Amino acid sequence: MALDRNAVPNDLNAFWMPFTANRQFKKAPRMFVAAEGMHYTTADGRQVLDGTAGLWCCNAGHKRPRIVEAIQKQAAELDYAPAFQMGHPKAFELANRIIDIAPKGIEHVFYTNSGSESVETALKLAIAYHRARGEGTRTRLIGRERGYHGVNFGGISVGGIVNNRKFFGTMLAGVDHLPHTHLPENAFTKGQPEHGAHLADDLERIIALHGPETIAAVIVEPMAGSTGVLLPPKGYLEKLRAITKKHGILLIFDEVITGFGRLGSAFAAQHYDVLPDMMTTAKGLTNGVIPMGAVLTTAEVHDAFMQGPEHMIELFHGYTYSGNPIAAACGIATLETYKEEGLFERAAELAPYWQEALHSLKGLPHVIDIRNEGLIGAVELEPIAGEPTKRAFSAFLECYDKGVLIRTTGDIIAMSPPLIIEKEHIDQLIGTLGDVLKTLA
Ligand SMILES: Cc1ncc(COP(=O)(O)O)c(C=O)c1O
Repeated sequence: MALDRNAVPNDLNAFWMPFTANRQFKKAPRMFVAAEGMHYTTADGRQVLDGTAGLWCCNAGHKRPRIVEAIQKQAAELDYAPAFQMGHPKAFELANRIIDIAPKGIEHVFYTNSGSESVETALKLAIAYHRARGEGTRTRLIGRERGYHGVNFGGISVGGIVNNRKFFGTMLAGVDHLPHTHLPENAFTKGQPEHGAHLADDLERIIALHGPETIAAVIVEPMAGSTGVLLPPKGYLEKLRAITKKHGILLIFDEVITGFGRLGSAFAAQHYDVLPDMMTTAKGLTNGVIPMGAVLTTAEVHDAFMQGPEHMIELFHGYTYSGNPIAAACGIATLETYKEEGLFERAAELAPYWQEALHSLKGLPHVIDIRNEGLIGAVELEPIAGEPTKRAFSAFLECYDKGVLIRTTGDIIAMSPPLIIEKEHIDQLIGTLGDVLKTLA
C-alpha cells in the first residue's frame, strides 16, 4: 500500500533542511509556530526571545501590523505581474523609497529574490558593465577570505568560507581573494578595530599580479556577518575604495546583513562613509517576510547599459519574481515601519548599551574574543580540542532551552536582535548567554 505522507504531519523525513544538522534536528526538533514582536512561540508553547532577528532579517521584529496588512491587501489586488517587459506601480515606488534612504550617488535598483541572487546579479553586472564600456578584458573578480556572499556559484567563488566552497568543485575561474581582517591583536575591541588597515594594501599586490585591465570588481561585506562578525579596521574600507578607484575597478559592498539599519544607519556605506559602486541587499528589505533582494547601483553603472536601439533589451538578466507585487508591497510597508518608528536611529541609540552588555561577558569561561558594532555582536569561544563547533552549538541548544535564540558559526556565537529590542531584552539575552557559558563544558 502506498504511504500517505500527508496523513503523517509529524514525519520529518521528506524536508531536507538547509544549513542544518538534519539528523540531530530530527531527533529533537526545534519548531516555531508563531511570532510577535521580539518573541517566537515554540510548538510546545514556550516563548523564545529572538536574539538574531530570524536570520539577520526581521529588523522590525515580528508580525508587524503594517506589513501583514500590506501583504494581505496586495494579494487580493494584484497577485503577480510579469517581470519582463511589464511593470506595476509598487515595484517603482519601492525602488524610489530605497533610493531615498540609500547613500547619495546610488540611484538605481535591480530586484532579485535573495541575497545570493543579489550577489550573482552584481557580479554579472560588473563584468557586463566593463564590456559595455569597451573594456571586455575586465572579467576577474576579487573577494575575501572568510567572506560570505550566499551559496550560488559566483557567491561561493568570491566567498571565503571553506566549508561553503570545498565540496563544490572548481567554481568560477578568474577569482582571487584578499586576506580577511581578523587580527588577534584586535581581540575584545569595542567597535571598529585600530589595527589592520594595511590589509587592504594586498589589493595592490593582487592587481599587480593579474594586471588591472583584467579585474572587474572587488566584493566585500563592509562588516562581515555570517563568518562571525568581523569588523573593518579603521581606514580599511577607505583604502579599498581608493585602490579600486585608482585602477578602474568596481567596488561592491555586500550589504545583505548590514543594510536596513543593522549598524544604526540605513546602510553600512553611510555608517562607514565609503561609497561603493554597487550594493547587494536582501533580508531587511522586506523584514524577512517575503523573499526579496535588490542590487543598488550608481548612475554610472546603470547608464553604461543604456545604449543601442531603444527597442532592444539592455541587460539579459532578471528573475521571474524580480519586483514581485507582494514582495514590493511588503518592502514598502517595511520601509514605512522603519521610518515611522525611527528604528535605524533606535539601533544607533541602543548600540552603546548593547556594547557594554556584550563586553560584560569578557572573562567568562571559554570566551576568547568579543566583537560588536551597531546592534550586532559576536562572542568567540575556544573550541573543544578535536571537536570544533561543538562548544558553541551546545551553547545554542542550552540558550534555546532557556528561552533565547542565538546563532552560531563555527565556535562563534553571533547575535543581531530586531531593532525594536528593549534594554530588558538585551539584559535577558546576554544574561542567559552568560549563565550558559558559566556551566558549559
Ligand atoms: C553578506 C551576505 N550575502 C549574501 C547572503 C545570502 O543571502 P540569501 O541567504 O538570502 O541568499 C547572506 C546571507 O546571510 C549574507 O550575509
